[in-house]
Amino acid sequence: MKLAVLKERRPYETRVAATPESVKKLIALGFQVAVEKGAGEKSYFPDDAYETAGAKIASTPQKTVEGAQVVLKVQPPMTKADGGEDEAKLLPEGALLLGILQSHTKPKLLEDYNKHKITAFALELVPRITRAQGMDVLSSQSNLAGYRAVIEAANAFERAFPLMMTAAGTIAPARVLILGAGVAGLQAVATAKRLGAIVSVFDVRAAAKEQVESLGGTFVEVESQETGEAAGGYAKEMSADYKARQAAKIKEVLAKSDIAITTALIPGKPAPRLITADMVKGMKPGSVIIDLAVESGGNCEGSVFGEVVEKNGVKIVGYANMPGRIPTDASAVYARNLLNLLTLCVDQDSKSLKINWDDEIIQAIALTRDGKTLHPQKGGA
Ligand code: NAI
Repeated sequence: MKLAVLKERRPYETRVAATPESVKKLIALGFQVAVEKGAGEKSYFPDDAYETAGAKIASTPQKTVEGAQVVLKVQPPMTKADGGEDEAKLLPEGALLLGILQSHTKPKLLEDYNKHKITAFALELVPRITRAQGMDVLSSQSNLAGYRAVIEAANAFERAFPLMMTAAGTIAPARVLILGAGVAGLQAVATAKRLGAIVSVFDVRAAAKEQVESLGGTFVEVESQETGEAAGGYAKEMSADYKARQAAKIKEVLAKSDIAITTALIPGKPAPRLITADMVKGMKPGSVIIDLAVESGGNCEGSVFGEVVEKNGVKIVGYANMPGRIPTDASAVYARNLLNLLTLCVDQDSKSLKINWDDEIIQAIALTRDGKTLHPQKGGA
């Protein structure tokens, strides 16, 4: 079995889909591995480390994927419309493609996969069941994004985080408000607490309260009977009445906060707008907002994808690809997610690909097979 690891070409992408460690294990599974030259450079995995692990280094994307049955990516393949090389065209006919393929925002790519009879597995659709936890890329990446968001906040904030009692007087601890207590939000709570901040958290899911409190955060309550819990532990969109009550509460807490980290997402929908320009105006100068939802439209009005903007002395940080700002670790856990999924797809005795199409994990992630679109999220069929 031949497996190819392509270098990521999309702007802001610093991660790579395999590490020297995962390459060793892929080879043990029965794969011959080709890695594109420089694929691990931005994650600090040099070509010679892949070679030592047993991979061949290929000089071009074409040579990398030549004869490959499996192709590993982080981002969806580039297209001409993205202003780069058309990567979908490079994929060998019938290959299995694994990546964070974002099918709901890139339905056109499904046509390309079908043209080349690609079996496309979108890792972000791995179901949240115990057996699939080791393949859950949303969790592995969000966890690091939550951590990094606090580090970026501490860097942009021109004051200290912890309480300091010194001979020259007392420095008050920073007050951090975290909106959204999923994987990223909970890691942000833990990280901000470790740095000594006072942490408040808000989420529409009632189940989040206990998790927040167990990490030492204070849960901000909105008076309402409505609950935001939807299938799979995700959130749903709330009613207009709830949104109004929530906005009033957030405005009140924000005015007393130094830092806001927003992580709120609703699967398949634009991110909820939780911080308005008016709320930003009510914050103290020197405050910092980190909008982790910026790629899905943003939780904060005025946040700009890939940029830091300043409004009334408040810095609004809209960095693209937060996990990509901690690329060595993000790549390492992503590569392990892929390895765990591939282990499910390989027959250990014959060392050949054997996909169980009845497996609920495979059914959840398979977008295309044999020229046909399988997934309802593909948008259209
Ligand atoms: P996510 O990335 O989809 O959303 C982030 C957070 O934003 C969620 O907690 C969501 O409730 C919150 N949110 C959405 N709309 C909001 C609003 N209007 N105001 C405030 N907050 C809002 O969520 P993520 O991180 O993927 O986690 C979702 C759930 O899945 C969590 O309960 C998590 O613990 C659970 N989970 C379960 C796993 C398993 O294998 N069983 C693995 C990973 C997560």
